[in-house]
Amino acid sequence: MSILFEPGKLGDIDIKNRVLMAPLTRNRAYPDGTPHEMAVTYYAQRASAGLIISEGAQIVPMAKGYINTPGIHNAKQIAAWKEITDAVHANGGKIVLQLWHVGRISHTSLLPEGSAPLAPSAIQAEAPTFTEEGPANVSAPRELSVAEIEAIVTEYADAAQASIEAGFDGVEVHGANGYLLNQFISTNTNDRTDAYGGSPEKRAKLLLDVVDAVSERIGRGRVGVRLSPTGTFNDIHDAEVSATYGYLFEEIGKRDLAFLHVVEAFPGFEPSGPDKDLVQNLRAGYTGNYIANGGYDKDSAAEAVEKGVAAVSFGRMFISNPDLPERLRLGAELNPVDDDTLYGGDEKGYTDYKALSVAA
Ligand code: PHB
Repeated sequence: MSILFEPGKLGDIDIKNRVLMAPLTRNRAYPDGTPHEMAVTYYAQRASAGLIISEGAQIVPMAKGYINTPGIHNAKQIAAWKEITDAVHANGGKIVLQLWHVGRISHTSLLPEGSAPLAPSAIQAEAPTFTEEGPANVSAPRELSVAEIEAIVTEYADAAQASIEAGFDGVEVHGANGYLLNQFISTNTNDRTDAYGGSPEKRAKLLLDVVDAVSERIGRGRVGVRLSPTGTFNDIHDAEVSATYGYLFEEIGKRDLAFLHVVEAFPGFEPSGPDKDLVQNLRAGYTGNYIANGGYDKDSAAEAVEKGVAAVSFGRMFISNPDLPERLRLGAELNPVDDDTLYGGDEKGYTDYKALSVAA
């Protein structure tokens, strides 16, 4: 049997295999951020994953960046998520919630009272979002004060606690893909000269403060972090990848968290040769549970696990193959993804992809 189907442990979370479901924005929540009833079926259908990492959920209304994404900041949202986690657990699965703050990747029309998005520095991104009116470039952000940054740390801890109330097995702190925590980490988005900007240590401070506050609230064995060292999606560029992420991987390693989840490649933004080597070097130097993501198939995933990676997460393949672990185990054919139904819409392209037993 392939090593991909051996059980394991990520901190306090037992996983039944090494084929995980990556976080995926699907834009099917209600406008107020309450997860849709369809999401109960969608996640329950994918409970054969070793672990599901949920789509990003905004931790507060100011953390939202696209239409119809779910939140994790009020009782109604928590109750709707509880239906989802109960259904996943009833099917024998595990699920963590991804804690999301988009920072500058938002639009005034998506934010309370038409506010400007929040960011480490007032530097606007060249990046698309989707509003009620359709596609738009993100709005100009405003710089956060130190008091506001400290308040955001508490907002993450509150959202982590809400996630546990909603029945999640843990949380993933989204530090990747150009969103708020990544904006603090990266050189092109952070011009600050206070405790949160300048050296790798200072740019990493907010992410590590968040990880520590969340760990204190729910226990470090239930906390993971997602990073994208070489990513350029959402107009993010780090001029010092090696120094920045060498420091971050070391600090995260010291904290003995459930996992570090790394976006090694992002669709449409794949790293070139030297950047590929950078990620592999960072991976080799990390001794905690490492989840690899981006561009893997069955063979390359098995090889990665053989070489010491704890697990591999799959995004697009899990959208169109709800029974992905079983299909990989059997070497069965995979359903193709319908790109037109990825973001928003109804059951089509969401809960109507067939599992093998149903398709047969
Ligand atoms: C997206 O909505 O396209 C999206 C959201 C979160 C990510 C990456 C992509 O981390």
